[in-house]
Amino acid sequence: MLALKPWDIEFVRSQFPALNKGKYSDTAFFENAGGTYVPHQVIKKLDEYLVSTKVQPYGVYASSHEGTQNIELATVKMAEMINADEDEVVIGHCTTMNLYMLAMSLRKMFKQGDEIIVSEQDHESNISPWLRLQEFGVTVKFWPIDPITGRLSLDQLECLLSAKTRLVCVTHSSNVVGDVNPIKKIADVVHKNDSLLLVDGVSYAPHHAIDVKALGVDIYVLSLYKLFGPHLGLMYVKRILHDQLENQYFSQLPALYQQYQKPGSPNYLRISLNPGLVNHEEVVSLLGLVEYFNALYQHHFSANKCCFFEKVKAVMALSVRYETTLSECWLNWLAKQKNLTLIGNNDNDVNQRSPTFSLKINHPSLLPKEVAKLLADKNIAVQSGSFYAWRCLNALKIGDDGLLRVSFAHFNNLDEVHRLCNALDEILI
Ligand SMILES: Cc1ncc(COP(=O)(O)O)c(C=O)c1O
Repeated sequence: MLALKPWDIEFVRSQFPALNKGKYSDTAFFENAGGTYVPHQVIKKLDEYLVSTKVQPYGVYASSHEGTQNIELATVKMAEMINADEDEVVIGHCTTMNLYMLAMSLRKMFKQGDEIIVSEQDHESNISPWLRLQEFGVTVKFWPIDPITGRLSLDQLECLLSAKTRLVCVTHSSNVVGDVNPIKKIADVVHKNDSLLLVDGVSYAPHHAIDVKALGVDIYVLSLYKLFGPHLGLMYVKRILHDQLENQYFSQLPALYQQYQKPGSPNYLRISLNPGLVNHEEVVSLLGLVEYFNALYQHHFSANKCCFFEKVKAVMALSVRYETTLSECWLNWLAKQKNLTLIGNNDNDVNQRSPTFSLKINHPSLLPKEVAKLLADKNIAVQSGSFYAWRCLNALKIGDDGLLRVSFAHFNNLDEVHRLCNALDEILI
């Protein structure tokens, strides 16, 4: 699918009210790894739901019926977006909640002495739920990172795998280190050992289309609010695992709904891993995310017919190429800085690194949070801290003051990157 034109950044930016008429539209926003802005299509769908269909869904009257149809359609589209089937996805409150529910639900799959491997590179949301299972006799082993580069090595994983390993949990791209982990290769190694692979795609998904089938993962999670959507999380669980999942909703539902609580029912995952369901208006606003990707596709590609997943793939392939132009400018500037050390590799290859850059501040008198504040005073938004990946920071021997993090999204432009570099030049003298 050839693009008709390069990434049209002016068109893209025009889709985001926060960049045009928002109260803080003058801010150069680089905290995208914490959550992106949303396009107008998402806001419109949220508004429409609240105005017209904010009633209890699954009723017979028109407003309820329409709201229900939109909730169902949004779920179908989110599944399609990652090349999953509808019954294999859950839209939950966030990734932390999705993984917690999953761990509780899988608890009985594990026997005393079974092993789970978690990575030191990961956000705590993909570690803590598994540590909780230690209480039930599961052993959790840590896949260590290299203390200098922050990298994970496949050789290390192979040493940790044993006949008792049931599950390996790893990030697709760390929200601190930024390196892209070779998930397909990891999946092959894990599956050869008859273990399952769970991948946290939260930091990776805002930059690449996700194809859960091609990746060969068993479970994949991402946060929709970092992917231009509302504050929700999407989780894929391969159908073959559904029998192992214990229902976390009411232990007994009225007869009418009991069918949904049986593994194998099309709604089993959505009901059993999502007690009480999630905010309906936000789920429906995901149809705005679909419209956003469709608009990007229509603007950049010839209007040939293809499915939503193919459109997302084409759009993300184009936008990631654009993001490398931002990264190149930033990395070139960074290479000359004595006061800043980049965590992870400085390779501007999209297959090697995400545009999430964590920096050690080597300045004699400024801490990361002070640099963040000085940037904020210049209308530049970045964040400092450990980003809930404190085990990763500990392994890298980074103290409590943490790191400064700069992260790009496909709506950032080169002017903003120059503003950031110039501001840091002034701050770090
Ligand atoms: C890599 C990564 N994984 C997981 C999470 C947790 O996501 P959520 O906020 O949706 O629970 C985050 C959040 O920052 C993250 O960056």
